[in-house]
Amino acid sequence: MRYLSGIQPSGVLHLGNYFGAMKRHIERQSGHECFYFIADFHALTTVKDPDSLRRHVLDVALDYLAIGLDPVRTVFFRQSDVPQVVELSWVLSTVTPMGLIERCHSYKDKIARSIEPTHGLFSYPVLMAADILIYDSDRVPVGKDQKQHLEVTRDIAQRFNAIYGETLVVPEEEIEEATAVVPGVDGQKMSKSYGNTIEMFAPEKMVDKAIKGIKTDSKGVEEPKDPNENVVYRLYSLFATPDELFEMAERFRKGGYGYGDAKKALSRKVLDYFAPYRQRREELARDLSRVRDILNDGAKRAQAVAARTIERVYRRVGLRA
Ligand code: ADP
Ligand code: TRP
Repeated sequence: MRYLSGIQPSGVLHLGNYFGAMKRHIERQSGHECFYFIADFHALTTVKDPDSLRRHVLDVALDYLAIGLDPVRTVFFRQSDVPQVVELSWVLSTVTPMGLIERCHSYKDKIARSIEPTHGLFSYPVLMAADILIYDSDRVPVGKDQKQHLEVTRDIAQRFNAIYGETLVVPEEEIEEATAVVPGVDGQKMSKSYGNTIEMFAPEKMVDKAIKGIKTDSKGVEEPKDPNENVVYRLYSLFATPDELFEMAERFRKGGYGYGDAKKALSRKVLDYFAPYRQRREELARDLSRVRDILNDGAKRAQAVAARTIERVYRRVGLRA
């Protein structure tokens, strides 16, 4: 079983990325073959500053390695180091019906947020399909916002196979219900582009500040509260043991427990949880040449698989004898 996933280096990673995707990426390393990559071709659709892009690529690499990505077991690389993915993307685009891409929400959502409507932004799902199909991936662990892109990938693979005969592995999505949509401090989906994140590795003061800013209703300390309706409790549930969670729920229901108290408990949890990873991240950041070596080694291993797939595809479609 081969797992594959990617994360865009388009900003600083947050609890939504971690619980929606990265935590599972790390867990799946035991017992499975994993390919994880930094989607820098994709990030070009939104990041137009070359220095920011370079910085974010290294930051994502450090984040992943700090939380436990094992570069020996796992193939860890940057997308643009495997140019065959763009070749496959072109071939796939020639079997992708326009309507399939026109239906995608993410393009519409992004232009609604004033991201420039470029051809790359529009055809993004085809490149994402190529990312997945070029490595013969079986399962793709992602958050719920990527569900439609996975459906598009499956459609494209099936269409290709219908036209040219069985060539591409049709992948399965893997979305975990409990963490499918991690809420941000405003209650909407936590996202780099909504300015509502709690960053995984922000300094203590910033984490406290973000958590203090979580929107709550105006119920006073003494009033009973429904735990399921508040973001503090929902975020706390990502970290707490079942007993701790039960205790917080009881306190809310009884009254006499304010949102400020719960926010303090949440801050503590976030900081404690990431503390060992933070330390590892600081150590890794002192040796960036090692991080670059890891990505270069991953690129070689990824290229070997990609080269075989592109050869197979080119033969099938008649670009090679
Ligand atoms: P962002 O929306 O912050 O730009 P990305 O699109 O780069 O995040 O997402 C990277 C991965 O993290 C994807 O698998 C995505 O589904 C997951 N993810 C992002 N935000 C959330 C969230 N709030 N809840 C659950 N998963 C998320
Ligand atoms: N589109 C994904 C996101 O915005 C990132 C991504 C690119 C990806 N290619 C992928 C995820 C392939 C999984 C598989 O989060």
